[in-house]
Amino acid sequence: MANNDFQQSVVVVTGGAAGIGRAVAEAFVAQGATVGVIDRDAATPLAGTSLLTADVRDDAEVAACIDRFAALHGRVDILVANAGVSYPATVEDGPLEDWKNILDINVLGYVRAIRAALPHLRRSSHAAIVNMSSCTAGTGLRRRVLYSATKGAIEAMTRALAADLVHEGIRVNCVSPGTVDTPLIAKLVAQAPDPDHQRKVYMDRQPTGFMVEPEEVARAVLYLAHPLARSTVGSVLTVDGGMASLRLFNS
Ligand SMILES: NC(=O)c1ccc[n+]([C@@H]2O[C@H](COP(=O)([O-])OP(=O)(O)OC[C@H]3O[C@@H](n4cnc5c(N)ncnc54)[C@H](O)[C@@H]3O)[C@@H](O)[C@H]2O)c1
Repeated sequence: MANNDFQQSVVVVTGGAAGIGRAVAEAFVAQGATVGVIDRDAATPLAGTSLLTADVRDDAEVAACIDRFAALHGRVDILVANAGVSYPATVEDGPLEDWKNILDINVLGYVRAIRAALPHLRRSSHAAIVNMSSCTAGTGLRRRVLYSATKGAIEAMTRALAADLVHEGIRVNCVSPGTVDTPLIAKLVAQAPDPDHQRKVYMDRQPTGFMVEPEEVARAVLYLAHPLARSTVGSVLTVDGGMASLRLFNS
């Protein structure tokens, strides 16, 4: 991809203060885009972006910051709906209030950002929405019942949204990462009884033997958002080290 491919693009990334979202925001900045980062954590702003502080659970906050950013730049061309949290649990773990909270962030948080961005995306000549899914949507992992359900919802929603919006020229796709080396994973590692062992488990469960780098996921997002990817619609782009599709039996 040549530099400045996104020079004409106004981009909003939710959960862009850390991890995958931050790498996505950085990649768009490097390609000349105007980038707004929505995050509840305002601690470490990313150079070259506008930090729009909001919690994706709050309708009014999300709408206000997207409207403000769009008013400043005339439109939004690309929305990357990415803010999400993990929740390692079986179906019997945790109070239902926790489950509602995770659904609120990981599913309704995407809906809020998409609803708020749509009027502004409609003013773009190359509008695209990229949602962040996970390999857990298509592969059963232990103690990921709720998290997997939220990611399955994102993949199903991506296809249905793509069908609703394709005739308006708004492309919707999603990325399905494997285990990505981000603060989310670092937190799960730190909480484990044996953090070194847990980190090795995360690496070993990737057929490649190493975790996905956030920058690899960012490159996938930029591909899906690229104005020239105009026939890529309603798709799931897998960046998971082979986790979902390989079976490493000796045969
Ligand atoms: N790390 C992985 O292994 C992995 C794998 C597949 C999919 N994903 C998905 O990628 C996305 C990003 O994950 P990550 O690993 O970069 O996470 P992360 O925890 O490293 O970063 C997430 C960012 O989202 C923000 N955020 C969380 N909840 C928010 C809320 N309610 N309102 C506003 N901002 C909020 C956080 O402040 C943080 O800046 C998530 O949707 C996650 O499910 C991650």
